Amino acid sequence: MSTQAQIRRTTVPQIAKRKGGEPIVSLTSYHAHTAAIVDKFADFILVGDSLGMVMHGMESTVGVPLDLMIMHGKAVVRGTQKALIVVDMPFGTYEESPQVAFRNAAKIMKETGCGAVKLEGGARMAETIHFLVERGIPVMAHTGLTPQSSHVMGGFKTQGRDESSWDAHREDARAVAEAGAFAVVLEGMVEPLAAKITTEIDIPTIGIGASKDCDGQILVLEDMLGLNPWTPKFVKVYGQLGPMIEDSVRRYAEDVKNRAFPTEEEIYR
Ligand code: KIV
Repeated sequence: MSTQAQIRRTTVPQIAKRKGGEPIVSLTSYHAHTAAIVDKFADFILVGDSLGMVMHGMESTVGVPLDLMIMHGKAVVRGTQKALIVVDMPFGTYEESPQVAFRNAAKIMKETGCGAVKLEGGARMAETIHFLVERGIPVMAHTGLTPQSSHVMGGFKTQGRDESSWDAHREDARAVAEAGAFAVVLEGMVEPLAAKITTEIDIPTIGIGASKDCDGQILVLEDMLGLNPWTPKFVKVYGQLGPMIEDSVRRYAEDVKNRAFPTEEEIYR
């Protein structure tokens, strides 16, 4: 039996069945070794296009190329055994037509070995989601604050502050669920709206800066580890890796300057 055949990952139907059940645990990951740690606890791991900002210092996710998503997707699949791996479709690779979306989603799935793709947009993407799902590509949708549209939205703004916009957000969530998405990320949305949508649709909602009542939660790993120079207010920070790395690098630099390394004799005795 090959090594791959022994890997038993969480499946798309298993995630879909968690609607209203035990909360779904998920985090982003872009890197094989950190993904291996996350894999011990997460139901699914998202190779998010936030990697453009977090790993590559871009100002937004708009410039992220498909090949970069595939490269990080491969690393995360290689590093994991258990979680469903979802890879983001970057800006410009799916909006033009369902056919273009299929071509790029199939490329992502074939080249990375991931189990699903995620794309941003509500009602306007319903036809594309339906097209992909009918052809064997599981789709996680993403509505509310959709970072790839930040230029149109005027920045990274919490959605639903004005109650008159709620119906449009509810319609977006309903449309992607009806189109066949197996789950939907609700990002940057006022709490009562995210909670309401969660009760209204029959697929799991995955909140990020939305509501504790969503069917699951996701955070950007580096945000919750305290590794990013700036962290959104809604993020509960569980580690202080930034200061830890700085302290370690400072001590290393001092050791180099002081020639304070173990001798060959100390290492091999
Ligand atoms: O790209 C990403 O990391 C995401 C999450 C914030 C949901 O889409």
